[in-house]
Amino acid sequence: MKKIAVFASGSGSNFQVIAEQFKVDFVFSDHKDAYVLERAKRLGVLTYAFELNEFDDKATYEAALVRLLDEHQIDLVCLAGYMKIVGATLLAAYEGRIVNIHPAYLPEFPGAHGIEEAWEAGVEQSGVTIHWVDSGVDTGQIIKQVRVPRFADDSINSFEKRIHETEYQLYPEVLQELGVEKKSLFYNDVRNSNR
Ligand code: GRF
Repeated sequence: MKKIAVFASGSGSNFQVIAEQFKVDFVFSDHKDAYVLERAKRLGVLTYAFELNEFDDKATYEAALVRLLDEHQIDLVCLAGYMKIVGATLLAAYEGRIVNIHPAYLPEFPGAHGIEEAWEAGVEQSGVTIHWVDSGVDTGQIIKQVRVPRFADDSINSFEKRIHETEYQLYPEVLQELGVEKKSLFYNDVRNSNR
């Protein structure tokens, strides 16, 4: 069975959707006060949290991450709102085994503000993309992407909500296609829809 870890920096709604459907070996956050850690505790998922500023440099920080992934024999790292660019140390050890979700239709609107930039640009449609992670910013090979429409009566909030709802469908779909086994129904009673 493929073992997965999720990296998240903030709210963790994508993590929650993943953890409701798949066994997540652990979640890592680079922010000790990130809400994703609360969600993980509620779902009974092991957590690790440490911050870049506790290390000499990014290479040392990522070396700690690589040790963690190796110790847990992780097959696939799922980035879900992990707000750091993956550096050379982590890539050297895990390239080809790291996937990311991006809230736009790449290569359109890469970077940290994909939803806002699509909204500002007035597009009629944006999307959601899952891709392999390489050394660029949201440039890795695309695994799957879907279009999300923007309607005339949308506010940025309704548009954003539609994008997130699409993410919650697409990430589990892709994980299943990548061979991550779903939890048995037995586990699903911990389901908590408070995203
Ligand atoms: C998502 O929109 C994801 O695509 C982007 O960051 C956001 C994370 O949201 N990379 P959450 O922490 O999963 O709620």
